[in-house]
Amino acid sequence: MTRFRSVRNFERKPCEGNCHPHSYPHRIFIQPGSLLRGPLTKVSALYPGSFDPPTNGHLDLIERGAKIFEELVVGILRNSEKSPMFSLAERLDMLKTLTAHLKNVRIEAFHGLMVEYAKSIDATCVLRGIRAVSDYEYEFQMALMNRKLEPTLETVFMMPADKYSYVSSRLVREVAQVGGPVKGLVPEVVEQRLRAKLEPAYKFHDEMQEELQEVAARGPARKGRRRKS
Ligand code: PNS
Repeated sequence: MTRFRSVRNFERKPCEGNCHPHSYPHRIFIQPGSLLRGPLTKVSALYPGSFDPPTNGHLDLIERGAKIFEELVVGILRNSEKSPMFSLAERLDMLKTLTAHLKNVRIEAFHGLMVEYAKSIDATCVLRGIRAVSDYEYEFQMALMNRKLEPTLETVFMMPADKYSYVSSRLVREVAQVGGPVKGLVPEVVEQRLRAKLEPAYKFHDEMQEELQEVAARGPARKGRRRKS
């Protein structure tokens, strides 16, 4: 008897093994391109955030989102309560440069309620990144509040690459504010902007490093002989 194993989106193929007809398929035959033709490609999504500054984690998520959504709008919150390190114009400029290679990504600014902005740009989905369990509680609360405000808007969570799981704008700011290295945490253009903005801190940090290296090169301080009195 020929048994067929099939799942939605996957090609129907006879199962060659001697397995139970109701068990899950042992082999999955993916039709080329079938995943790319899925319904998500018709979705226009909004990726909202402060992006102060944009990090490699943000960029990673934007690139992942751009692959599965037909259109992805990165919405930068213009928040009058916070005093951001980078102005809205600077954040817009950085993100536009960083995403210039992604043709279905648009960078915009918004203020007020995120769900209202999403509606105004016809986004039916909100993209948010989850790095660690610690993000979950806040994101869960926010997603449910947004659902209460606008039930038709769905929130989709994606994980950035694990190498960025500890990277956040807040920590990047903290490191940069004392002139610390942010290489690998943020894209190069952001690193340059941070250095330019926080020049005194970086100058002081570099001078201190030089001084410490000089001291280390000199070796331990010699103890002088005690004079007999
Ligand atoms: O990058 P962030 O700071 O984590 O992003 C938070 C953001 C901008 C997504 C959130 O604060 C937001 O949506 N603010 C807009 C005001 C709003 O709609 N608040 C209700 C959210 S429950």
